[in-house]
Amino acid sequence: MKIIEEYNKTALTDNDLNDYKKLINEFHHKLAESKAELSIAKEKYAKLEVEKDEVKKIKAEVSFQKNEIAKIANSNPFVLNFENAKKLIKMVKSENNNAEIDEEAINAFVKAKQLLKESKISIQDKGRGIKLEKNNDIAIKVSNLSFKYAPDFPYALNNVNFEIKHGEYVTIIGHNGSGKSTLSKIFIGVLKPEEGSYEIFGNKVHKNNLDQIRKFLGIVFQNPDNQFIGSTVQADIAFGLENKRVEPHLMPEIILEAAKKVRMENFLDKEPLNLSGGQKQRVAIASALALNPEILIFDEATSMLDPKGNREIKEIMVDLRNQGNKTIISITHDMDEILNADKVIVMNGGKMVQIGTPEEVLKDKDFLRSIKLDIPFVGTVEEALAEQGITVNHSKDMKELVDQLCK
Ligand SMILES: Nc1ncnc2c1ncn2[C@@H]1O[C@H](COP(=O)(O)OP(=O)(O)OP(=O)(O)O)[C@@H](O)[C@H]1O
Ligand SMILES: [Mg+2]
Repeated sequence: MKIIEEYNKTALTDNDLNDYKKLINEFHHKLAESKAELSIAKEKYAKLEVEKDEVKKIKAEVSFQKNEIAKIANSNPFVLNFENAKKLIKMVKSENNNAEIDEEAINAFVKAKQLLKESKISIQDKGRGIKLEKNNDIAIKVSNLSFKYAPDFPYALNNVNFEIKHGEYVTIIGHNGSGKSTLSKIFIGVLKPEEGSYEIFGNKVHKNNLDQIRKFLGIVFQNPDNQFIGSTVQADIAFGLENKRVEPHLMPEIILEAAKKVRMENFLDKEPLNLSGGQKQRVAIASALALNPEILIFDEATSMLDPKGNREIKEIMVDLRNQGNKTIISITHDMDEILNADKVIVMNGGKMVQIGTPEEVLKDKDFLRSIKLDIPFVGTVEEALAEQGITVNHSKDMKELVDQLCK
């Protein structure tokens, strides 16, 4: 039918709605930034640190952003889109002599009405409902990031910069208090950067898009006992899915798939009391995996486990890395774990002091010792050999070293 074809040429879609939400969201973010600047400028003005003109200038900026938002809301393109849909129905009706209206036209009308309703909601909620896309292949980009827990405290993070590509397995090491957990808390939005910023897949993170950003992230913490919420393994994994309002009939398969990835599929009906620390930690990973995050953060997830549990979790991290569609960030004190990683970030006193492959980072053993870090076991053996005049190439693990020596 020609009329509907003509209509469809200009009809707006879900993608257009998402772009509209993004635009609203962006201007609200700019408004929030200039409001924050204004309050700082006002404080400075009270202390006679800036001129009145400076305050005026920022005030004008705030008004400008407010105006822009009003303009975007007033020129809501979904209003016209809905008018067009109404016209479409009229035209179809007159063409059919008021007989039955074509189903396609009715669907188009219903869609336009829904888009209009959602666009109005998004104006009210500052575009928070946007669906963020992966704009690039950089899972996390940190730019000039600084953070203090209180104004007169030292920097817990001090001008940190790095990039982590999607699919990489990155370990973050550093002595106690070097800022590792602070970094992970910033990533998941528990803490807000003082200065600088960070991007997740090219989306600059701010207050208004944090809920959407969190969908990219999963985190597993140190204590396996604090992470078990359900009465059984199954219920525990289901918990996050229920929160995300996944349809109940889809859950069993998602739960089973996630449990299989951590080799807990035979424990679905077991209670937490009957599980070891390592098994509980595996369930915590499954719960995170069920939500299908792109980025998984482990904050010392192995440190409270016995050697067996520790080994199991490290194997799972390597498995996940080898499956290739997740970014794994593991904060760890386990210097043997870093040998599994693609990249190592070394923190000291809130600063990033090194970034590179495990081989690159382990080259300067004296430096690592100077910032109170251990050397992986294989590294200490290599050093002892070197002292005896036996030089070997750097090995990933003891097996590789032994093979090299036996050649
Ligand atoms: N809630 C807090 N209030 C005040 N200072 C804090 C708080 N949490 C951490 N800090 C301080 O911030 C700095 C960085 O701490 P952070 O927890 O990020 O270190 P970390 O590298 O994770 O250490 P660890 O290896 O012990 O877990 C430290 O000096 C710490 O004392
Ligand atoms: Mg920590």
